[in-house]
Amino acid sequence: MAGRWKNDLTRADVTPHAAYVNRRQLLAGGTALGLGAIAGPGLAAADPELNSWEEITSYNNFYEFGTGKDDPARHAHKMTTEPWSIEIDGLVERPGKYDFSDIMPEMAVEERIYRFRCVEAWSMVIPWNGFELADLLNMAGVKDGAKYVAFQTLMRPEEMPGLRYPVIDWPYVEGLRLDEAMHPLTIMATGIYGKPIPKQNGAPVRLVVPWKYGFKSIKSIVKITLTADEPPTSWNKYSAREYGFYSNVNPTVNHPRWSQAEERRIGGGLFAAKQPTLMFNGYEAEVAALYDGMDLRKFH
Ligand code: MTE
Repeated sequence: MAGRWKNDLTRADVTPHAAYVNRRQLLAGGTALGLGAIAGPGLAAADPELNSWEEITSYNNFYEFGTGKDDPARHAHKMTTEPWSIEIDGLVERPGKYDFSDIMPEMAVEERIYRFRCVEAWSMVIPWNGFELADLLNMAGVKDGAKYVAFQTLMRPEEMPGLRYPVIDWPYVEGLRLDEAMHPLTIMATGIYGKPIPKQNGAPVRLVVPWKYGFKSIKSIVKITLTADEPPTSWNKYSAREYGFYSNVNPTVNHPRWSQAEERRIGGGLFAAKQPTLMFNGYEAEVAALYDGMDLRKFH
């Protein structure tokens, strides 16, 4: 069931890609245009504009292809994404390997313009195309007793040169609480800017949870498991002190090595002022109730 969440932005608010590029040229020429006028109302104040296709697809984290920001764009073309299947197992009524080409006709794909905040204190505004994760989980049928959802990325060493380096404990795994996974803001993205999602961004399907730090948005998903217990997550295994299971964007809880109060918007220029980070990345009204009564410092 798509459309349960009402975005305040519609397709009409999206800066056409060509216009965006032209606008950047104008800005680069030193013309101070009224920033904020083009972005839709929901993003106007803190988010001057969408990031460009170039920025979104050439500055990436996808450690399976290497740890440099340009490694994914250089190496991800080696990844075979067709055919693709997602195994859904654990506490579900209909476990099995779901072919991606069978899943897609059942899903309602829509555009979602979301803020994206990396734990490293940089951010973008991205026009995703995707479907609600809840629809996919309902397709498999969630059983009583399921409380968490675990995700796993493809692990194919012959196509992913970064897997040679034990930076993290491969495969890349992530997890959400079931109510977070079922929240209408949580999507499985299959596109950016109306085009199929590039491989460096997690083709053919990646998770997007806009109120959490970017590392929760696991790419190129091959497996989803419904569990009763909290599943392990890659960055939490790497350093539990630095990366909690929840990892909700929170300007008042700093990373042990840097402040999370502000962020640098990619494309804003090297000397652009940082902007304040918003509680739950600006989605407080929609998601704060999920964490009622929880100590957000403890469950970071
Ligand atoms: N998923 C996998 N499988 N491997 C990764 O290294 N990096 C995460 C997340 N998902 C990562 C991943 C991090 S740290 C971030 S910030 C985002 O992907 C980056 O997404 P982007 O490259 O599309 O901006």
